[in-house]
This record gives sequence, structure tokens and C-alpha cells, in this order.
Amino acid sequence: MKTLTLTKNDIYTGNLVLVNAKLPLVSHSNNGLIFADAKRSDILMERGAATALSRILCDMNCIEEIVLVSGYRSEDEQEHIYSCSMRDNGKRFTEKYVALPNHSEHQTGFAIDLGLKKDDIDFIRPDFPYEGICNEFRKKAPKYGFIERYQSGKEDVTGIAHEPWHFRYVGYPHSEIMSKYDFSLEEYIEFIKNYTYGEEHLKITRNKQEIEIFYVPFLSSEQMTLHLPEHSFYQVSGNNEDGFIITQWREQ
Ligand code: DAL
Ligand code: ZN
Repeated sequence: MKTLTLTKNDIYTGNLVLVNAKLPLVSHSNNGLIFADAKRSDILMERGAATALSRILCDMNCIEEIVLVSGYRSEDEQEHIYSCSMRDNGKRFTEKYVALPNHSEHQTGFAIDLGLKKDDIDFIRPDFPYEGICNEFRKKAPKYGFIERYQSGKEDVTGIAHEPWHFRYVGYPHSEIMSKYDFSLEEYIEFIKNYTYGEEHLKITRNKQEIEIFYVPFLSSEQMTLHLPEHSFYQVSGNNEDGFIITQWREQ
């Protein structure tokens, strides 16, 4: 058996952290950021997210058609965007389209706003239509670990208006499950709580690999230890609230 030790701080990092109006960003560590666009020095993303994004853009051969508009934002940048939008667009608009500072998933490095390339790109609401190359990207995104984060019809769950341009890296196979069952990230985090460590796990098979996904509530004040199968590869993400989601791969 492999032993995995988790501490309270681990709750606040990883590709499945849920950041929204109710759950602020807790971890401000931005060590893993890299340039997401080789031609620009102002668009950063978390390493895994940036790598997956560049893979999908290369595979689709659409680097000339899809523009990276906004990736990682610091707290100061989100503060600036929020206050400029309040001044220029008013409260009603801003509350719909701009998260409060420390409540934006752009601050995690896992979010990217994309726009269809044209002369005039709106920074807050770039055009990313449900047709052509943009929709092709949208359909392929879950295979690469991305979801359209703020879908139409989920406004009451996410607290944000429909944003066709905002994609969130959650990692594969989470992206595929969320897309298949039409879960927002809020709903997926709740859904995974039906599969708890020590009980039944969510099991799927992909590319001859058995994948198990399960939730681990953090029930300790300091650290906790899990035992995982020896011949497995696993990834841990906090949910930014009360525990962890473990994804475990094993060859069949
Ligand atoms: N536009 C998204 C909600 C943000 O500001 O994080
Ligand atoms: Zn965004």
C-alpha cells in the first residue's frame, strides 16, 4: 500500500478547487504559473492548464483564430477590473460578469477567457460564439480537461451570468464526466461526495485504465493519512472547502 498524508492546507490547492461568491480563494501561492501564450508575456496559467490549452489549440490548428484574452489574475488585477467595471458598466452588469476580488477563479490560474480573433475584443465579454471554430473548441475542450464554466441555465448555481468565453481547467476525466452529465463545478463537487473514501468509489475505464474518483472529508485538525493501492498513480485536489478529491489510475 502507498501512504498519502494530507494536511489542512491541501484543501485549498489543486485543479478542482471551487472558487465562487461563497468560497473565497484561500491559497495565494502562484508558483506553478507559466506563459500560456508564447507570443505574449501577460497571459499566465497554472502549468497543467497552460499545457492542456496549448495542446488543444495546436491539435485544432487554430492559434490564428482563437485569442487568449485573460488568464491568471492577481488580487490587485481582479480588484482593478472590478472597480473599473463598476465605474464604467455599473453594479448590475459588474455583479453578473465580474467576480469579487478573491472570489474569482482567474486567481487560481485554472481559468482562461477566449475570444474569436478580430480587431476589437471586449476584455470582459469577448465574443466566443456557438458556431465555427469556437464551438469546435467548446466541444473538444472536455477531452483536454476544460469545461465551459458558466453555462446558460446554471446562473443560480454559479452566481455568474452565462459566459460562453470562460473555460476552466478541471482535468480529465472530471471534465468529461461534468460535460456528459451537465454538471457545473458546484454540482460536480457535491456529486463526488456520494463516493467517499472507504465506501463505494466512482469507477470508470478509459484507455485500458481503471479510474477511481472519490471524496475524502478532512476530519482532522492537523493531518490525515490515506492508504492507496501500490500499483496506482493518483492525483489529489482540494475542493477549497472541506476535503479532497482523489483521482486514482490503475492499468487493467
Ligand atoms: N468573469 C469571471 C466570473 C471572473 O471575473 O472571475
Ligand atoms: Zn473569465
